[in-house]
Amino acid sequence: MLKIFPSILSADFSRLGEEIKLVEEANADGLHIDVMDGKFVNNISIGIPVVKSIRKCSNLFFDVHLMIEDPDKYIKNFADAGADGITFHIEATKDPFNTINLIKECNKKVGISIKPETEIPDKSILKDIDLLLIMSVNPGFGGQKYIEAVNEKIEKLLKIRYENDLHFDIQVDGGINKDNILAVAKCGADIAVVGSAIFSADDKKSAVLELKNISSL
Ligand code: DX5
Ligand code: ZN
Repeated sequence: MLKIFPSILSADFSRLGEEIKLVEEANADGLHIDVMDGKFVNNISIGIPVVKSIRKCSNLFFDVHLMIEDPDKYIKNFADAGADGITFHIEATKDPFNTINLIKECNKKVGISIKPETEIPDKSILKDIDLLLIMSVNPGFGGQKYIEAVNEKIEKLLKIRYENDLHFDIQVDGGINKDNILAVAKCGADIAVVGSAIFSADDKKSAVLELKNISSL
């Protein structure tokens, strides 16, 4: 069944703890935390102190999505702050194996993210990771439109995973809502990241439940 990780990028940060509680009560499968540095992407979001602070009020799996240059520099900080999984962009590092090792040394789940235009990484990388995050919008902002061409990429990745007996999860992030989540599930994704379709809804809890219902049809 497709897992749903709400992305707090679209949450009301003045009441972040309460909003996280709501999605937790709706049995969200994890919490997606978007970190942006204003360099790798053209936006700045949240960082280490926020992760540390919300760690105190949630037991959800913390899935930290680093959209930053030079991720190696900050892996340990995010691990210490309470991340359970750390995903970095393959476009942001010269030596992905080094970044993978740094995350592993912290005993955290390793994720690699690719932008919509980026090719699927080589098998030598795929065999070393727990998660491959396919961006279905250009990273930087919530509320963008889902890029349909990504569906083909999900199916291609599924095939590579099967043919090579690999075990990473396939996560899709950006523009997912109640109109397209079933298609994302049917393509074979394991985890859908959903930001504005949950946190911009009047009833956040019902929004998660509805997405769960639709994706299990
Ligand atoms: C975009 C972020 C996404 C974003 C998704 O750069 O990585 O996680 O929060 O938000 P929606 O679901 O609104 O596209
Ligand atoms: Zn994200």
